[in-house]
Amino acid sequence: MNIAEIKCLLEKQKRITLGFFPTPFYKLERLSSQLGVNLYIKRDDFTGQNLFGGNKIRKLEYLLGQAVENGAEYVFTYGATQSNHAMQTVAACRKLGLKPVLYLLAFVETDENDLKGNLLLDKIFGAEVHIINTLPNESLFESTERYMVAAKKHMKQLEAGGHRCYSIPLGGSNSIGTIGFVSGYLEIQQQMNLLGIKADYIFHANGSGGTMTGLAVGRKLFGSSEKLIAVGAAKHDANFVTSMVELGNNVLVRLGSDKIMTKEDFEMDEEHFAPGYEMPSEQGSEAIKLLAREEGILLDPVYSGKAFACLLDYVHSGRVQQGSDVIFWHTGGATALFAEKEILGNLF
Ligand SMILES: Cc1ncc(COP(=O)(O)O)c(C=O)c1O
Repeated sequence: MNIAEIKCLLEKQKRITLGFFPTPFYKLERLSSQLGVNLYIKRDDFTGQNLFGGNKIRKLEYLLGQAVENGAEYVFTYGATQSNHAMQTVAACRKLGLKPVLYLLAFVETDENDLKGNLLLDKIFGAEVHIINTLPNESLFESTERYMVAAKKHMKQLEAGGHRCYSIPLGGSNSIGTIGFVSGYLEIQQQMNLLGIKADYIFHANGSGGTMTGLAVGRKLFGSSEKLIAVGAAKHDANFVTSMVELGNNVLVRLGSDKIMTKEDFEMDEEHFAPGYEMPSEQGSEAIKLLAREEGILLDPVYSGKAFACLLDYVHSGRVQQGSDVIFWHTGGATALFAEKEILGNLF
Protein backbone atom coordinates (compact mmCIF):
# COMPACT_ATOMS: atom_id res chain seq x y z
CA MET A 1 0.00 0.00 0.00
CA ASN A 2 1.16 3.54 -0.55
CA ILE A 3 1.19 6.36 2.00
CA ALA A 4 -2.15 7.81 0.85
CA GLU A 5 -3.90 4.42 1.10
CA ILE A 6 -2.57 3.75 4.62
CA LYS A 7 -3.54 7.29 5.65
CA CYS A 8 -7.06 6.52 4.48
CA LEU A 9 -7.23 3.48 6.80
CA LEU A 10 -5.91 5.50 9.74
CA GLU A 11 -8.30 8.39 9.21
CA LYS A 12 -11.26 6.09 9.92
CA GLN A 13 -10.02 5.58 13.51
CA LYS A 14 -11.21 7.81 16.36
CA ARG A 15 -8.32 10.10 17.38
CA ILE A 16 -7.91 13.11 19.59
CA THR A 17 -5.05 15.65 19.34
CA LEU A 18 -2.66 15.58 22.27
CA GLY A 19 0.87 15.90 20.90
CA PHE A 20 2.87 17.76 18.29
CA PHE A 21 3.43 15.74 15.15
CA PRO A 22 5.50 15.09 13.16
CA THR A 23 8.25 14.89 15.76
CA PRO A 24 11.71 16.05 14.59
CA PHE A 25 13.81 13.66 12.51
CA TYR A 26 17.38 14.49 11.54
CA LYS A 27 20.93 13.21 11.18
CA LEU A 28 23.36 13.10 14.11
CA GLU A 29 26.38 14.41 12.24
CA ARG A 30 29.07 14.05 14.89
CA LEU A 31 28.16 10.52 15.94
CA SER A 32 27.65 9.45 12.32
CA SER A 33 31.22 10.28 11.44
CA GLN A 34 32.55 8.68 14.62
CA LEU A 35 30.60 5.45 14.09
CA GLY A 36 30.92 5.15 10.30
CA VAL A 37 27.16 4.88 9.74
CA ASN A 38 24.52 7.46 8.82
CA LEU A 39 22.82 7.80 12.18
CA TYR A 40 19.43 9.53 12.32
CA ILE A 41 17.26 10.23 15.33
CA LYS A 42 13.45 10.35 15.63
CA ARG A 43 12.62 12.62 18.54
CA ASP A 44 9.53 11.15 20.20
CA ASP A 45 10.82 12.66 23.41
CA PHE A 46 9.32 15.78 21.80
CA THR A 47 5.76 14.49 21.33
CA GLY A 48 4.56 16.95 23.98
CA GLN A 49 2.19 17.75 25.49
CA ASN A 50 4.58 19.31 27.94
CA LEU A 51 8.35 19.24 28.38
CA PHE A 52 8.20 15.53 29.21
CA GLY A 53 6.91 13.81 26.07
CA GLY A 54 7.47 10.25 24.98
CA ASN A 55 6.14 7.42 22.88
CA LYS A 56 2.87 6.95 24.78
CA ILE A 57 1.32 10.17 23.48
CA ARG A 58 0.95 8.53 20.05
CA LYS A 59 -1.05 5.68 21.61
CA LEU A 60 -3.03 7.97 23.89
CA GLU A 61 -4.36 9.99 20.95
CA TYR A 62 -6.31 6.86 19.93
CA LEU A 63 -7.02 5.46 23.41
CA LEU A 64 -8.32 8.66 24.90
CA GLY A 65 -10.14 9.39 21.66
CA GLN A 66 -12.16 6.29 22.47
CA ALA A 67 -12.45 7.15 26.18
CA VAL A 68 -13.98 10.52 25.31
CA GLU A 69 -16.31 8.94 22.77
CA ASN A 70 -17.42 6.45 25.45
CA GLY A 71 -18.25 9.33 27.80
CA ALA A 72 -15.63 8.29 30.37
CA GLU A 73 -15.11 10.36 33.50
CA TYR A 74 -12.26 8.34 35.08
CA VAL A 75 -9.27 6.82 33.30
CA PHE A 76 -7.42 3.99 35.03
CA THR A 77 -3.96 2.83 34.08
CA TYR A 78 -1.10 0.77 35.48
CA GLY A 79 2.69 0.49 35.56
CA ALA A 80 5.71 0.99 37.78
CA THR A 81 5.92 3.94 40.18
CA GLN A 82 8.27 5.60 37.67
CA SER A 83 6.10 4.67 34.69
CA ASN A 84 6.46 7.08 31.76
CA HIS A 85 3.21 5.72 30.37
CA ALA A 86 1.34 6.55 33.59
CA MET A 87 2.73 10.09 33.72
CA GLN A 88 1.88 10.81 30.07
CA THR A 89 -1.62 9.37 30.57
CA VAL A 90 -2.17 11.64 33.56
CA ALA A 91 -1.03 14.74 31.64
CA ALA A 92 -3.23 13.81 28.67
CA CYS A 93 -6.24 13.22 30.93
CA ARG A 94 -5.82 16.66 32.43
CA LYS A 95 -5.92 18.28 28.99
CA LEU A 96 -9.20 16.48 28.30
CA GLY A 97 -10.84 17.07 31.69
CA LEU A 98 -10.69 13.36 32.59
CA LYS A 99 -9.84 12.09 36.09
CA PRO A 100 -6.71 9.90 36.11
CA VAL A 101 -6.37 6.98 38.54
CA LEU A 102 -3.05 5.09 38.74
CA TYR A 103 -2.25 1.69 40.20
CA LEU A 104 1.55 1.57 40.39
CA LEU A 105 3.92 -1.18 41.40
CA ALA A 106 6.92 -0.13 43.50
CA PHE A 107 10.01 -1.86 42.07
CA VAL A 108 12.06 0.63 44.07
CA GLU A 109 11.02 1.99 47.44
CA THR A 110 9.31 5.39 47.27
CA ASP A 111 9.57 8.11 49.90
CA GLU A 112 6.27 10.02 50.28
CA ASN A 113 8.23 12.99 51.64
CA ASP A 114 10.74 13.10 48.82
CA LEU A 115 8.95 12.15 45.62
CA LYS A 116 11.03 11.79 42.47
CA GLY A 117 10.71 11.77 38.70
CA ASN A 118 7.41 10.66 37.20
CA LEU A 119 5.79 9.97 40.55
CA LEU A 120 6.40 13.59 41.53
CA LEU A 121 4.86 14.71 38.22
CA ASP A 122 1.84 12.41 38.73
CA LYS A 123 1.24 14.15 42.05
CA ILE A 124 1.68 17.63 40.57
CA PHE A 125 -0.93 16.72 37.96
CA GLY A 126 -3.18 15.71 40.85
CA ALA A 127 -3.63 12.07 39.83
CA GLU A 128 -5.18 9.61 42.27
CA VAL A 129 -2.21 7.33 42.96
CA HIS A 130 -2.34 3.87 44.53
CA ILE A 131 1.07 2.34 45.18
CA ILE A 132 1.36 -1.42 45.51
CA ASN A 133 4.51 -2.77 47.11
CA THR A 134 5.92 -6.03 45.82
CA LEU A 135 5.83 -8.74 48.48
CA PRO A 136 8.77 -11.03 49.29
CA ASN A 137 8.69 -14.18 47.11
CA GLU A 138 5.88 -12.79 44.97
CA SER A 139 6.42 -12.97 41.18
CA LEU A 140 5.83 -9.97 38.95
CA PHE A 141 2.79 -11.78 37.55
CA GLU A 142 1.36 -12.23 41.07
CA SER A 143 1.87 -8.60 42.10
CA THR A 144 0.35 -7.44 38.82
CA GLU A 145 -2.66 -9.71 39.43
CA ARG A 146 -2.98 -8.21 42.91
CA TYR A 147 -3.15 -4.61 41.72
CA MET A 148 -5.45 -5.49 38.83
CA VAL A 149 -7.90 -7.06 41.31
CA ALA A 150 -7.78 -3.89 43.44
CA ALA A 151 -8.20 -1.63 40.41
CA LYS A 152 -11.15 -3.66 39.05
CA LYS A 153 -12.89 -3.47 42.42
CA HIS A 154 -12.33 0.30 42.48
CA MET A 155 -13.76 0.69 38.96
CA LYS A 156 -16.80 -1.40 39.86
CA GLN A 157 -17.50 0.83 42.85
CA LEU A 158 -17.26 3.98 40.73
CA GLU A 159 -19.46 2.50 38.03
CA ALA A 160 -22.05 1.45 40.60
CA GLY A 161 -22.20 5.13 41.58
CA GLY A 162 -22.90 6.12 37.95
CA HIS A 163 -19.34 7.15 37.00
CA ARG A 164 -18.06 5.86 33.69
CA CYS A 165 -14.50 4.44 33.74
CA TYR A 166 -12.04 3.66 30.96
CA SER A 167 -9.17 1.27 31.56
CA ILE A 168 -5.90 1.53 29.60
CA PRO A 169 -3.71 -1.58 29.79
CA LEU A 170 -0.04 -1.53 30.71
CA GLY A 171 1.87 0.70 28.30
CA GLY A 172 -1.30 1.40 26.28
CA SER A 173 -0.47 -1.63 24.15
CA ASN A 174 -3.82 -2.90 22.94
CA SER A 175 -5.13 -2.84 19.39
CA ILE A 176 -6.33 0.75 19.76
CA GLY A 177 -3.18 2.29 21.28
CA THR A 178 -0.88 0.38 18.95
CA ILE A 179 -2.44 2.16 15.96
CA GLY A 180 -0.51 5.22 17.20
CA PHE A 181 2.69 3.57 16.02
CA VAL A 182 1.27 2.51 12.68
CA SER A 183 0.70 6.21 12.24
CA GLY A 184 4.24 6.85 13.57
CA TYR A 185 5.62 4.50 10.93
CA LEU A 186 3.85 6.42 8.20
CA GLU A 187 5.21 9.65 9.63
CA ILE A 188 8.81 8.50 9.45
CA GLN A 189 8.38 7.16 5.92
CA GLN A 190 7.24 10.61 4.86
CA GLN A 191 10.21 12.20 6.65
CA MET A 192 12.63 9.75 5.03
CA ASN A 193 11.15 10.60 1.62
CA LEU A 194 11.78 14.28 2.28
CA LEU A 195 15.42 13.60 3.19
CA GLY A 196 15.79 11.17 0.30
CA ILE A 197 16.90 8.25 2.49
CA LYS A 198 15.83 4.64 2.97
CA ALA A 199 16.57 3.17 6.40
CA ASP A 200 18.44 -0.10 6.80
CA TYR A 201 17.70 -0.31 10.55
CA ILE A 202 15.37 1.25 13.11
CA PHE A 203 16.29 0.66 16.76
CA HIS A 204 13.90 1.44 19.63
CA ALA A 205 13.26 0.45 23.24
CA ASN A 206 10.69 -2.28 23.86
CA GLY A 207 8.48 -2.73 26.92
CA SER A 208 4.82 -3.69 26.57
CA GLY A 209 5.28 -4.18 22.82
CA GLY A 210 2.91 -1.59 21.32
CA THR A 211 5.69 0.47 19.77
CA MET A 212 7.30 -2.61 18.23
CA THR A 213 4.00 -4.00 16.96
CA GLY A 214 2.69 -0.72 15.58
CA LEU A 215 5.91 -0.16 13.63
CA ALA A 216 5.89 -3.75 12.36
CA VAL A 217 2.26 -3.43 11.23
CA GLY A 218 3.17 -0.17 9.48
CA ARG A 219 6.05 -1.89 7.72
CA LYS A 220 3.78 -4.77 6.70
CA LEU A 221 1.18 -2.41 5.21
CA PHE A 222 3.83 -0.36 3.46
CA GLY A 223 5.74 -3.40 2.24
CA SER A 224 9.20 -2.09 3.13
CA SER A 225 12.12 -4.14 4.35
CA GLU A 226 14.26 -2.24 6.86
CA LYS A 227 15.13 -4.16 10.02
CA LEU A 228 13.18 -3.10 13.11
CA ILE A 229 15.19 -3.95 16.24
CA ALA A 230 13.10 -3.82 19.43
CA VAL A 231 15.46 -3.68 22.40
CA GLY A 232 13.93 -5.12 25.57
CA ALA A 233 13.99 -3.10 28.81
CA ALA A 234 13.25 -6.39 30.60
CA LYS A 235 13.17 -10.11 29.85
CA HIS A 236 9.95 -10.97 28.04
CA ASP A 237 8.39 -14.36 28.66
CA ALA A 238 8.23 -17.11 26.04
CA ASN A 239 4.69 -16.18 24.93
CA PHE A 240 5.47 -12.54 24.29
CA VAL A 241 6.06 -12.75 20.53
CA THR A 242 2.95 -14.89 20.07
CA SER A 243 0.88 -12.29 21.89
CA MET A 244 2.43 -9.55 19.74
CA VAL A 245 1.51 -11.47 16.56
CA GLU A 246 -2.05 -11.59 17.89
CA LEU A 247 -1.94 -7.89 18.78
CA GLY A 248 -0.65 -7.03 15.31
CA ASN A 249 -3.39 -9.06 13.66
CA ASN A 250 -6.03 -7.37 15.82
CA VAL A 251 -4.65 -3.99 14.73
CA LEU A 252 -4.84 -5.06 11.08
CA VAL A 253 -8.46 -6.19 11.54
CA ARG A 254 -9.31 -2.89 13.23
CA LEU A 255 -7.77 -1.03 10.29
CA GLY A 256 -9.68 -3.16 7.81
CA SER A 257 -6.64 -4.85 6.23
CA ASP A 258 -6.46 -8.51 5.27
CA LYS A 259 -2.69 -8.73 5.79
CA ILE A 260 -1.40 -11.25 8.36
CA MET A 261 1.39 -10.84 10.92
CA THR A 262 3.71 -13.73 11.79
CA LYS A 263 6.57 -14.20 14.26
CA GLU A 264 9.02 -13.35 11.45
CA ASP A 265 7.72 -9.77 11.49
CA PHE A 266 9.44 -9.17 14.83
CA GLU A 267 13.10 -8.94 15.74
CA MET A 268 13.78 -8.48 19.44
CA ASP A 269 17.06 -7.99 21.23
CA GLU A 270 16.92 -9.27 24.80
CA GLU A 271 20.62 -9.01 25.51
CA HIS A 272 20.89 -5.41 26.62
CA PHE A 273 18.43 -5.07 29.52
CA ALA A 274 20.66 -6.65 32.19
CA PRO A 275 20.72 -6.64 35.13
CA GLY A 276 16.95 -6.02 34.97
CA TYR A 277 14.03 -3.60 34.71
CA GLU A 278 14.77 -0.25 36.40
CA MET A 279 18.30 -1.50 37.13
CA PRO A 280 21.02 0.52 35.39
CA SER A 281 23.69 -1.13 33.24
CA GLU A 282 27.21 0.07 32.58
CA GLN A 283 26.67 -0.09 28.81
CA GLY A 284 23.44 1.90 29.16
CA SER A 285 25.18 4.55 31.27
CA GLU A 286 28.00 4.83 28.71
CA ALA A 287 25.45 5.19 25.90
CA ILE A 288 23.63 7.95 27.79
CA LYS A 289 26.87 9.83 28.38
CA LEU A 290 27.94 9.44 24.74
CA LEU A 291 24.75 10.89 23.26
CA ALA A 292 24.68 13.64 25.90
CA ARG A 293 28.31 14.62 25.36
CA GLU A 294 28.48 14.29 21.57
CA GLU A 295 25.04 15.55 20.58
CA GLY A 296 23.49 17.26 23.63
CA ILE A 297 20.56 14.80 23.76
CA LEU A 298 19.31 13.08 26.92
CA LEU A 299 18.29 9.43 27.13
CA ASP A 300 17.05 7.49 30.16
CA PRO A 301 18.57 4.58 32.08
CA VAL A 302 15.52 2.25 31.91
CA TYR A 303 14.57 2.23 28.22
CA SER A 304 16.25 4.50 25.68
CA GLY A 305 19.77 4.33 27.19
CA LYS A 306 19.79 0.53 26.92
CA ALA A 307 18.30 0.65 23.41
CA PHE A 308 20.98 3.08 22.28
CA ALA A 309 23.64 0.88 23.91
CA CYS A 310 22.34 -1.99 21.79
CA LEU A 311 22.59 0.11 18.62
CA LEU A 312 26.19 1.04 19.47
CA ASP A 313 27.01 -2.58 20.19
CA TYR A 314 25.62 -3.71 16.81
CA VAL A 315 27.66 -1.03 15.01
CA HIS A 316 30.89 -1.77 16.90
CA SER A 317 30.54 -5.53 16.42
CA GLY A 318 29.77 -5.22 12.69
CA ARG A 319 26.21 -6.61 13.00
CA VAL A 320 25.28 -3.27 11.46
CA GLN A 321 27.54 -2.71 8.47
CA GLN A 322 29.56 0.46 8.03
CA GLY A 323 27.80 2.95 5.76
CA SER A 324 24.30 1.74 6.77
CA ASP A 325 21.42 4.17 7.29
CA VAL A 326 20.43 3.66 10.92
CA ILE A 327 17.57 5.32 12.80
CA PHE A 328 17.38 5.55 16.55
CA TRP A 329 13.76 6.09 17.61
CA HIS A 330 14.02 8.09 20.84
CA THR A 331 10.97 7.05 22.85
CA GLY A 332 11.46 9.56 25.68
CA GLY A 333 11.75 8.74 29.37
CA ALA A 334 14.46 11.18 30.50
CA THR A 335 12.40 12.00 33.61
CA ALA A 336 14.06 8.83 34.98
CA LEU A 337 17.22 10.94 35.27
CA PHE A 338 15.43 12.53 38.23
CA ALA A 339 14.15 9.26 39.71
CA GLU A 340 15.48 7.33 42.71
CA LYS A 341 19.25 6.87 42.58
CA GLU A 342 18.96 3.06 42.34
CA ILE A 343 17.41 3.61 38.89
CA LEU A 344 19.86 6.27 37.73
CA GLY A 345 23.19 4.47 37.63
CA ASN A 346 26.65 5.95 37.26
CA LEU A 347 26.31 8.88 34.89
CA PHE A 348 29.25 11.15 35.65
C1 LIG B 1 10.85 5.68 27.40
C2 LIG B 1 10.17 4.45 26.91
N1 LIG B 1 10.64 3.86 25.81
C3 LIG B 1 10.09 2.73 25.34
C4 LIG B 1 9.01 2.14 25.96
C5 LIG B 1 8.45 0.87 25.40
O1 LIG B 1 7.28 1.10 24.69
P1 LIG B 1 6.22 -0.08 24.54
O2 LIG B 1 5.58 -0.24 25.89
O3 LIG B 1 5.30 0.40 23.50
O4 LIG B 1 6.97 -1.29 24.17
C6 LIG B 1 8.47 2.73 27.11
C7 LIG B 1 7.33 2.09 27.81
O5 LIG B 1 6.91 2.49 28.83
C8 LIG B 1 9.06 3.93 27.59
O6 LIG B 1 8.58 4.53 28.68
